[in-house]
Amino acid sequence: MDKPDDMLSISVTGRGNTVAYGPTREQKPEEFAVPVLIFGASGRTGQCLVEQALAAGHTVTAFVRSRSTLSARHPKLHIVEGDVLNPDAVDAAMLGQRAVLSALGFSGRRASDSLVKAMEHIVTSMQRYRVHRFVSLAPPPAKDGWVRRGLIGRLLSPFLQKPPAQSWERQLDSIRGSPLEWVLVRPTRLTNEPARKSYQVSVGWTEVPDGISRADVAMFMLEQLQNRRYVRLSPVLGG
Ligand SMILES: NC(=O)c1ccc[n+]([C@@H]2O[C@H](COP(=O)([O-])OP(=O)(O)OC[C@H]3O[C@@H](n4cnc5c(N)ncnc54)[C@H](OP(=O)(O)O)[C@@H]3O)[C@@H](O)[C@H]2O)c1
Repeated sequence: MDKPDDMLSISVTGRGNTVAYGPTREQKPEEFAVPVLIFGASGRTGQCLVEQALAAGHTVTAFVRSRSTLSARHPKLHIVEGDVLNPDAVDAAMLGQRAVLSALGFSGRRASDSLVKAMEHIVTSMQRYRVHRFVSLAPPPAKDGWVRRGLIGRLLSPFLQKPPAQSWERQLDSIRGSPLEWVLVRPTRLTNEPARKSYQVSVGWTEVPDGISRADVAMFMLEQLQNRRYVRLSPVLGG
């Protein structure tokens, strides 16, 4: 295992699995400010991303379907209205960006198809405009066994919602097959709790705790703009 990046302390457990606990020091604002495009900026994780990205000094373009859904205002915040299912709208927002973050979420019967299309549009546009780093939220892995449950959780686990069906994996193919510097961030279960400014990361089936706040997920996603540790990997996150 490589020496960890400056802000993570890492412990390595058996069979090549990795659990990272981090961060161990505060991120210095303005340390690494880039123009960043955020999809799903009006969503629950997306709003945490916008707020934290601005606090870190990034210039943020928030891609939203309606500007009325985003209350944040800031001199370094640009709001672009569009539908991610429209490739022209995605292209229009991509020009001049250095990195892309996605906290998109879809519901309903066609959710999986929409997500596949959205990812294709983003990946294609990023390549067209030579934007390389793509950090995207993704559903938890379809395989079970990545979540550490307490006694009650273990008793209830047969009745808990199963991880998303394999069809969700399709949305990730266009990202994984691309030459982009992608990071697929797979939280176990998102909560609205306040940030704890800590998380556990698993790459390779080490168990992590069930549940992590959206604010901590946003913090992890933003950290991926400035280190390469999880590039082309799908880290599973727990709180
Ligand atoms: N819930 C969990 O436990 C869990 C666990 C692991 C991973 N995840 C993943 O986390 C992601 C985000 O979760 P969340 O709860 O933060 O999401 P959320 O609050 O539902 O936000 C979803 C965002 O996607 C935007 N969006 C949807 N369709 C769009 C379109 N056609 N064009 C542009 N924007 C569109 C929404 O915009 P509007 O405001 O216009 O609707 C909203 O900003 C999901 O992808 C989910 O798979 C969730």
